[in-house]
Amino acid sequence: MSAFGIYVHWPYCAAICPYCDFNVYRARGAENAPLLDAIIADMEAHAQRFGRREAVSLFLGGGTPSLLRGHEIAKLIDAASRIYTLAADCEITLEANPEDHALFAEQAAAGVNRFSVGAQAFDDAALKALGRRHDAHASRRAIDVAAATGRRVSLDLIYAREGQGEAEWREELTRALELPVEHVSLYQLTIEPKTAFARRVDRGQIVPPDDEKAATLYELTQEVCEAAGFPGYEISNHARSESARALHNLLYWRSADWIGVGPGAHGRFTHAAARIATEAQARVSDYIDAVREHGVGWIEESTLTNEENADEVLLMGVRTIEGAELQRIAALRGRPVNPEALTWLSERGLIEYDNDRVRLTARGRLVANTIAAELAA
Ligand SMILES: C[S@@+](CC[C@H](N)C(=O)[O-])C[C@H]1O[C@@H](n2cnc3c(N)ncnc32)[C@H](O)[C@@H]1O
Ligand code: SF4
Repeated sequence: MSAFGIYVHWPYCAAICPYCDFNVYRARGAENAPLLDAIIADMEAHAQRFGRREAVSLFLGGGTPSLLRGHEIAKLIDAASRIYTLAADCEITLEANPEDHALFAEQAAAGVNRFSVGAQAFDDAALKALGRRHDAHASRRAIDVAAATGRRVSLDLIYAREGQGEAEWREELTRALELPVEHVSLYQLTIEPKTAFARRVDRGQIVPPDDEKAATLYELTQEVCEAAGFPGYEISNHARSESARALHNLLYWRSADWIGVGPGAHGRFTHAAARIATEAQARVSDYIDAVREHGVGWIEESTLTNEENADEVLLMGVRTIEGAELQRIAALRGRPVNPEALTWLSERGLIEYDNDRVRLTARGRLVANTIAAELAA
């Protein structure tokens, strides 16, 4: 049976960043207790319906779950360990905004053993342009405070920002990799539809780098990380060692099992030999009402077809250096991965494959989705 994890979505943020299209809402003095209770009831409903399992990961994501006090985090962790069993070495991650660093010690005491700090940039002008509420000094301080708790620390950066030069990014990333972190997630700025950034791009107020510039910055990123001892193990993720890899994200990339609770959360798990997909109500009040009325917070529960399941295993698996499992995909689809595509993509240096696995090369990672579509054809 696949490894199992729990994703909890906490949707509140102190302010909404202009580039973000996650399911987020301004906290504006909202009460936490009704949402915490609904999330816990939803977890229980999942367990009753689909069985109780041992979780190797509990991920508190958002939104900004670092707005939660230690006793609120403890309530979530206690509920997860009462309803499911948490493995002795369960990875318990908190997505944390730098400005919340004063709460890190109580959050660690509550049971968080991995902080994923959203530094985003170490350049004050860039942070301002991203609409962030913290400066570079606060980001560095947050990393130090997180490291001082003795827990695992990862940081997120956004690059390929407007006007970002290669030399500046090399310097910024090099300095970031000197910080006391074991893991970094480095995302190219994506202009998501319907965000404030998308409107500014439409009006010509922001001109993001073109594909060629972004590709150059991507290659530079791989080179700097490699040299600093942070090899990439997924398109956007780098770790100092194998044990520093994000176990929770590996569950996604390996198409393992996880439940998703909290507004807008998605789950994927195996139950009675079927691959179940759930999606929770996105709006906080709808989510709380759904849990009160039906016991569960999801709007949709569907069973993936074997073809859909195979496509996910392929799309997610090729992103990592482990690669996607060819036999697993063939068994699900009832036919192998497109052999012609395997040949021509590997001849062009975009993928590598053997009898067991197929994975993207560094060049292939720039066009991951197109390659997955070719292989699935
Ligand atoms: C769900 S967000 C939450 C993190 C946390 N609230 C914060 O802001 O630091 C997770 C990560 O996604 C990345 N992200 C969000 N929107 C993005 C975008 N439009 N382009 C690239 N990366 C993005 C950021 O690096 C962010 O840290
Ligand atoms: S980037 Fe983080 S803080 Fe900003 S709106 Fe998105 S989830 Fe909230």
